[in-house]
Amino acid sequence: MRIIKKILAIGCLAAALFAGLYVAVCVVGGSSFVETVIFLGRFIDDPNLVGAVAPSSRLLGEALVAKVVPGIGGVGKRFLEVGPGSGAVTECLVAKLGPNDSLDLVELDPHLAQILREKYKNHPQVTLHQLSITDWRPGEPYDAVVMGIPFNALASSFVEQIWAHVLLLTKSEGVISYFSYLWLPRIKKLFLSKHKRRDFKKIQNHLAEQYRLYGVGTQRVLPNVPPAIVFYLQRSQQIRASAPNLSVEWGMSEDTKLAARHCNGEQSVTGSNPFFNASSGA
Ligand SMILES: C[S@@+](CC[C@H](N)C(=O)[O-])C[C@H]1O[C@@H](n2cnc3c(N)ncnc32)[C@H](O)[C@@H]1O
Repeated sequence: MRIIKKILAIGCLAAALFAGLYVAVCVVGGSSFVETVIFLGRFIDDPNLVGAVAPSSRLLGEALVAKVVPGIGGVGKRFLEVGPGSGAVTECLVAKLGPNDSLDLVELDPHLAQILREKYKNHPQVTLHQLSITDWRPGEPYDAVVMGIPFNALASSFVEQIWAHVLLLTKSEGVISYFSYLWLPRIKKLFLSKHKRRDFKKIQNHLAEQYRLYGVGTQRVLPNVPPAIVFYLQRSQQIRASAPNLSVEWGMSEDTKLAARHCNGEQSVTGSNPFFNASSGA
């Protein structure tokens, strides 16, 4: 009996230490205590929707918005954040807004959307829309789209749907950034059933294909829970015709290979955007 009590006490102590460390790391990373706890709660409630155990760190947020260029002079630009969660990356985006720029936040989870609604209720340049990105039909396309979507937690058909939609929402010169956790896809793959493994591989292939077509760079961010890699894409970016097909590779942690390939042979991407009419400037 004494031994059981001792084991229980050690277990509780270890759990408390782990929880303290987790919150400390998130708070040092830039999120508030309350946001961290709510975010973790949402993950426990719906891991496939939220897809992350902690909000992104400040450094990951800054890397995600690194290619976002604010409007200058009287020209306003339109920015979109998909899956802003509790707003860790949103803060970095808001800090970049020029006086005439606008930022749309599209968040599916109603609890996280409520945090954002409260946070930005007095910010005239920020508008929250609580719905799935696949249902979002704005009047005009965007100059930059920052995605926090947990692709690796979704079904491959939905991932493909999201990408098709987001590409249509982005101006031809527009930039798209998103992140993936380092090493996790490879680890996750080991624990999947045969059927899920096949679908997971489809997701990796689709992400690799998007990067092959539109990729312009990557950046690793180690100070994040867990460490991550940011991918930058540009719709008008050239297709690397001679780039090897990455679809056979597992995981998105092959950043150095991807970045190297992005310098390969070139051929322009053309094509109109059927989502908006010609006058929209897409
Ligand atoms: C990994 S969290 C990222 C949160 C935040 N961007 C960050 O980096 O801390 C993913 C977010 O995407 C949201 N999400 C998932 N699927 C979505 C969808 N179809 N449309 C809009 N948001 C979605 C989740 O609710 C969650 O807030």
